Amino acid sequence: MNRITITFISALVLSSACLFAFAGGVNVPPEAHGRDGGKLHEQHCFKCHTDSVYTRENRFVKSLDALSKQVKRCKNNVGVPWFDEDTNAVVHFLNEKYYKF
Ligand code: HEC
Repeated sequence: MNRITITFISALVLSSACLFAFAGGVNVPPEAHGRDGGKLHEQHCFKCHTDSVYTRENRFVKSLDALSKQVKRCKNNVGVPWFDEDTNAVVHFLNEKYYKF
């Protein structure tokens, strides 16, 4: 085998490995596509308060609607460019983990 053949074969092996990885990606759960509320929250929401505001005794959020409004208010304060899906993922995450409405 000469050098060119070897290069050609390794290129072929590499590109089929890529295709394989791509096909395998179809089964990735939706959270892995940037809608992970927990991760979004961790990245952007610990700048002014920790998660203790969600569990303190006198917390002011008393309904799912209020939670959604507060997340939007805080989100606008930080200026993170979230889509509604991202905001909803964070609302969902906070509700599941802390508020349980
Ligand atoms: C610019 C500062 C700031 C950032 C960043 C911030 N918050 Fe807040 N957040 C506040 C303040 C101030 C309060 C009110 C705290 C208080 O009353 O002691 C609050 C309260 C809250 C509450 C209500 C807690 C309760 O009493 O039930 C929620 C929910 C909340 N924030 C969610 C978020 C989320 C989600 C993010 C990320 C997008 C975020 N915050 C980022 C400033 C911020």
